Amino acid sequence: MAEEAILGYLATSEEIPDSGQFASQHGFQHNDVVNVIKSLHGFRYIDAQDIKRESWVLTDEGKKYAADGSPEVQLFLAVPQEGSISKDELQKKLEPSVFKIGCSQAGKNKWVDMGKQVSRKVQHVEDKVKDLLIRIQKGEALGKDDINSLKARKLIVAQTWKGYSVKKGPNYAPTRKKVATDLTRENLQRGDWKELEFKEYNFNAKGPPAEAGHLHPLLKVKQQLKNIFLQLGFEEMPTNNFVESSFWNFDALFQPQQHPARDSHDTFFLEVPSTTRELPEDYVKLVKRVHESGGYGSRGYMYDWKREEANKNLLRTHTTAVSTRMLYALAKQPFTPKRYFSIDRVFRNESVDRTHLAEFHQIEGLVCDKGLTLGDLIGVLNDFFSRLGMSKLRFKPAYNPYTEPSMEIFSYHEGLKKWVEIGNSGMFRPEMLLPMGFPEDVRVIAWGLSLERPTMILYGVDNIRDLFGHKVDLSLMKRNPICRLGID
Ligand code: PHE
Repeated sequence: MAEEAILGYLATSEEIPDSGQFASQHGFQHNDVVNVIKSLHGFRYIDAQDIKRESWVLTDEGKKYAADGSPEVQLFLAVPQEGSISKDELQKKLEPSVFKIGCSQAGKNKWVDMGKQVSRKVQHVEDKVKDLLIRIQKGEALGKDDINSLKARKLIVAQTWKGYSVKKGPNYAPTRKKVATDLTRENLQRGDWKELEFKEYNFNAKGPPAEAGHLHPLLKVKQQLKNIFLQLGFEEMPTNNFVESSFWNFDALFQPQQHPARDSHDTFFLEVPSTTRELPEDYVKLVKRVHESGGYGSRGYMYDWKREEANKNLLRTHTTAVSTRMLYALAKQPFTPKRYFSIDRVFRNESVDRTHLAEFHQIEGLVCDKGLTLGDLIGVLNDFFSRLGMSKLRFKPAYNPYTEPSMEIFSYHEGLKKWVEIGNSGMFRPEMLLPMGFPEDVRVIAWGLSLERPTMILYGVDNIRDLFGHKVDLSLMKRNPICRLGID
């Protein structure tokens, strides 16, 4: 309908100057006219030029005053013609917002005397605000000052109206020919393809977005790290137990029972089931002894080791708990050197901020062999991290209950132009390895780092809550760029 009207109009007239006026003159919705214009323009039946007009519309507050009168006039009318009314009485007669705005505007206009008692200063007032609002509603144009004062009171807002002016296009015809979109078998058989007009390809049309799953950046970085470990000959450890006993998470690691990390401020303990069902009893005895009185050249911590403390279930605070179980199992076999890694979730009772969550992922690697030295650890770390694109490393002496020596790992960040801490490492203590049953000359070098840190750097995310957790930015999952570790 709108299409016939537009094409018909252009048959006798040069131009439709304004699609808005055209729509109202012919009784169409402007929206429908716009859609037809876009389509006819696409087939070049018409040429269309954008028109934009700023217009003003009433806000909800503006609409209220256009109907009920401005607050200042409502207030004025509530003040008696003679004598006065107390401010409290007056307030009761009006809506709170009308009272508040009315007081200030009527005072400014010098219509009333505002004190404890309110009285009129003039006998008649005009509701100019209401009149102006009604004129805007009718689509009348107002002067600059009037517009500015209504705008300042947030009674009107600007709205951009968009429409078109339209002329004949190169393919103009008074009615649209149906064009074929496909060449069919029937067209070929009948031979009518010779007469048919075919729709042109629109190479600028966007295809529909592909409906597909999207991998989370953490999963992508995890996969790349996995590949690096596998290239280096590491085997993956099974990490499928988030719940661990204190024994495997702490005690077997020679972490004393009074260590602050074992406090409920740092660790999530389970309420149900609160304790583990079984532990390897022979090994528990050896761990107890090494804590209490040492052995293997150590004095131990010299305290009363409590089984109840070791039995407590918790959410593992590091994947080193997994390494411990694996090393214990390895020590039971005739000795073979091993390289193990894991990448999985750990939990800490931390307060959450831009860079910390109560759960995150740890990457952990270890090498177990006879005669390894700190030099081997530094060498392996250099090899590993240079594959992540971090080739400038520095090491700082540190302390872990289960490693000696221990080193924090720093990498020079070219973007931030400073050294940033990226991980922690060390050589597992004899107090940890010997009770497991390893031969004396077996050494284990190990390191750990978070998966989130390199992922945030790689994807340029500066708030961890955009990456992980309930506030995660889903569009980041869908639109994230291809990022590769180790390539600048
Ligand atoms: N478990 C340590 C941590 O949570 C990392 C680490 C792993 C340190 C292995 C030394 C050896 O930070």
